[in-house]
Amino acid sequence: MVTAMNRTRGLVLGLTGHPWVSRTVTRYGMRLGARRFVAGERLDEAMTAIAGLNRVGIRGTLDYLGESVQDAPQAEAACETYCSLVEEIARRGLDTNVSLKASQLGLDLDPKLALELVGRVVETAGRHGNFVRIDMEDSHHTQATLDLFRALRERHENVGIVIQAYLRRSAGDMRDLAAMGASVRLCKGAYLEPPEVAFPDKKDVDASFEELMRAYMASGNHLAVATHDDRMIAAAKRFADELRVPRDRFEFQMLYGIRPRAQRELAADGYRMRVYVPYGTEWYPYFSRRLAERPANILFVLANLFRR
Ligand code: FDA
Repeated sequence: MVTAMNRTRGLVLGLTGHPWVSRTVTRYGMRLGARRFVAGERLDEAMTAIAGLNRVGIRGTLDYLGESVQDAPQAEAACETYCSLVEEIARRGLDTNVSLKASQLGLDLDPKLALELVGRVVETAGRHGNFVRIDMEDSHHTQATLDLFRALRERHENVGIVIQAYLRRSAGDMRDLAAMGASVRLCKGAYLEPPEVAFPDKKDVDASFEELMRAYMASGNHLAVATHDDRMIAAAKRFADELRVPRDRFEFQMLYGIRPRAQRELAADGYRMRVYVPYGTEWYPYFSRRLAERPANILFVLANLFRR
């Protein structure tokens, strides 16, 4: 069964996957609108974005964009970039941790290589009292990413994981993570998945998000509630009050460029607020997922096409 949510996501990701579209958007993309969602192609642009957020009481999580590398030297290079990024954050005294994709550090090539490289980033972050969040990719990566996380978490405290509420398996995964005392970022899930793997209906994804959020808050572990959805945000506040969850045991997270006013309001209301700030030249897949989440964003891109 193809639902409206999956049909739209499939159409947009199909379109953005077309080689001509990909070439054209990559060429003109920053002007077309990627700049709204991506802090820039250079590190200093990302650092400026983080400093701006910090000034209004918002923390950051920096993502050096990139996915599924082709060979070990590329994975090593991504690892080096992340290690210098962590050093630079400390040097500038910014309030931001980092988020990374395991496939960018070699997970598809060799899980042992990814364990070594992500481990190196986590160790470097640990030396500076910082934290590394491992993003969750499409469902082909779920088990390998969780295995990688478990192996790292046995050695380090300063690493967290992401769970996607649309996956049917997530309730079981979150129970295991709660038993490990893991810090989890809960999001709805951004990839196109078959209905056997992920709930195809938005209402089921939302119901799953609420259930998982409540159970994880009740478990006493740290939860990052990653959503722009007012209903999920209201539910998080309600659960936190009911369960008497201290404000430092959960935080809200949103993406750079999406609902900035809501981000500032949550921070001003005394909630912990963290914004995911991506930067780098490999922004196209990330940008495509933002368009697929909200087709109105395509109109925004088209409008920019005609703006001088
Ligand atoms: P929903 O899609 O229902 O949107 C609610 C409202 O938010 C919309 O009505 C609109 O106002 C606004 N909105 C949402 N998306 C928008 C967009 N693209 N442009 C403009 N407005 C938009 N996914 C994943 O699979 N793995 C991961 O590791 C992560 N990591 C991650 C980190 C953080 C900090 C966030 C906030 C999100 C992720 N995601 C993710 C993405 C997540 O899975 C999901 O696709 C998006 O957050 C959109 O879902 P919402 O919960 O915002 O709700």
